Amino acid sequence: MGTHLFSEGSIKGVALKNRIVRSATWEGMCDGEGNPTDRLIELYRTLCRGGVGLIVTGYTFVRADGREMPGTMGIHSDDRIPALKRLTDAVHEEGGRIFCQLFHAGGRARTAVTGARPLAPSANKGATVPDPPEAMSKQDILELVTAFAHGAGRARRAGFDGVQLHGAHGYLINQFLSPLTNARQDAYGGSLENRMRFLREVYNAVRREVGPSWPVTIKLTAADNIPGGFTLEEAVTVARNLEEWGIDAIEVSSGTRESGEEGPARVKIDSPEREAYNASSARRIKMEVKVPVIVVGGFRSPEVGETILGNGGADFIALSRPFIREPGLVRKWEADRTHRALCVSCNGCFLAGMKDGGIRCVQVSTP
Ligand SMILES: Cc1cc2nc3c(=O)[nH]c(=O)nc-3n(C[C@H](O)[C@H](O)[C@H](O)COP(=O)(O)O)c2cc1C
Repeated sequence: MGTHLFSEGSIKGVALKNRIVRSATWEGMCDGEGNPTDRLIELYRTLCRGGVGLIVTGYTFVRADGREMPGTMGIHSDDRIPALKRLTDAVHEEGGRIFCQLFHAGGRARTAVTGARPLAPSANKGATVPDPPEAMSKQDILELVTAFAHGAGRARRAGFDGVQLHGAHGYLINQFLSPLTNARQDAYGGSLENRMRFLREVYNAVRREVGPSWPVTIKLTAADNIPGGFTLEEAVTVARNLEEWGIDAIEVSSGTRESGEEGPARVKIDSPEREAYNASSARRIKMEVKVPVIVVGGFRSPEVGETILGNGGADFIALSRPFIREPGLVRKWEADRTHRALCVSCNGCFLAGMKDGGIRCVQVSTP
């Protein structure tokens, strides 16, 4: 029998009890310093008890000027490590596994949150970027590469099982990859080789920091889904390069806030046909690499995930919104393969997260 949802798996030797990942989800449940609150720790315990194979944290800023949303987790200084260790200890006590998603918002950072002017590959402002960014100097690039590496080192010391670089959804790494946000004339802009230079330097610095045998993974955009943006063919080349450099797994997502109906978290996933909207891109990338491929985006019915895993379209499936409504979804699926996730893909969880100090499903609860 081929791989199915409840097959055991592993990423760079980290054993995972099934093929179901909680995709990175900003919860807005950290304090002003970026420390996890008890509420976040309790949520991760609940997710582990609910059976999820691997939790990827919400995006975690490697430097304070990289923040976008309030209540985001921080891994920007050594004094964060004890608070983060409480979180990883809780997950391990429950028998779970946890990767830290390392991120910098680049041009999407919000001055209202950081108090600083955003830094981006180029000063051209995206349609939905709140504050006009400043183009990064070579020195800024070097410092940010180092910030990612130090973030990864702290993640290892804080007890995380691995890291995931956020290379999607229009944040800094994606901004370098995309010709829409990267108009640089130097070695970091122009050809794809140049546009992926920042990612290569980040990856290499992270790898040097954590050593050869600890998991370093990426959530990679398969495409911006915007005319003139980063394309699937380019993503395939980036994925092949990442494998060559030594990446340990690739989670495939797509879109940015400017992609309209084809953004990262699409709405109206109301039938199996609308589910798994990144599956064909993930399959294309999987054909080109041997490292594990995780696919995210619109999984709701067990049979949709089961089919993709069974026919080799991906090695793991990842979900975000369904776990906000049903943190125990994996156990429910284990008991009943006909249970469709109750999430209606309304994205009300985002706004609730900003207004109420933490995400929640607006379909089931009031603050
Ligand atoms: C409230 C919320 C917060 C999110 N935060 C992150 C994040 O921190 N990092 C990330 O890579 N994706 C984030 N996403 C995107 C999800 O990980 C996922 O790619 C997307 O929602 C599609 O999967 P789904 O249909 O299972 O929700 C977030 C999505 C939601 C709804």
